[in-house]
Amino acid sequence: MPRTPAFCYAFISHRLIRAALGDSPSRDVRWIAPVPGTRCAEIGSGGGFYTPALAAHLGSGSLLVALDPAAHDPRARRATGTGATTAHIAGDGLALPFASASLDALLYSYSLEEMPDQRAALAEAERVLRPGGQLVLFLWRPLMPRRRRASALTAPRPQGEGLVLVRSHHGLQNLRLAYRKR
Ligand SMILES: C[S@@+](CC[C@H](N)C(=O)[O-])C[C@H]1O[C@@H](n2cnc3c(N)ncnc32)[C@H](O)[C@@H]1O
Repeated sequence: MPRTPAFCYAFISHRLIRAALGDSPSRDVRWIAPVPGTRCAEIGSGGGFYTPALAAHLGSGSLLVALDPAAHDPRARRATGTGATTAHIAGDGLALPFASASLDALLYSYSLEEMPDQRAALAEAERVLRPGGQLVLFLWRPLMPRRRRASALTAPRPQGEGLVLVRSHHGLQNLRLAYRKR
């Protein structure tokens, strides 16, 4: 499956461009409902565009794991802020290093499209979430190849019967989806 060209991501990942297109870390992380003591992971945290805002949103007493294959990205370390205790780890969305039913919330911040097997990635998400846990997907839209936009990725129920769509927003350049695990 062809990947979105790197220069597209380089362009749209610039903070000013993203702000112009409607991305706002402090607002967008509110898609995760904060509960004291939340155990949350951001999958594909990259340079940490969302990580500090998410940590602040979750608050102290919560745990945030920022996972990315490129966890050595120095921008991510600089991005660590206040609030939830935050750990940056190297990892793969296709084999999450968490026990089954061990997390309360998962955020995929424009990373699911990058994974070679999105169904397998969503199965992993479902595995590590506890019943009642939240899955939030931020997905690019115009820059996704047409067949990927039309894939099961953007269907209301991404995987099996265990994840129930509770909220969606179809933006100009993105799609935001929130699910609850039964
Ligand atoms: C478009 S960037 C988004 C980064 C950041 N979340 C943001 O909003 O700026 C996509 C991210 O997905 C990560 N990624 C790619 N394949 C992955 C995988 N198999 N598991 C986890 N993350 C992956 C990349 O390393 C990259 O940081």
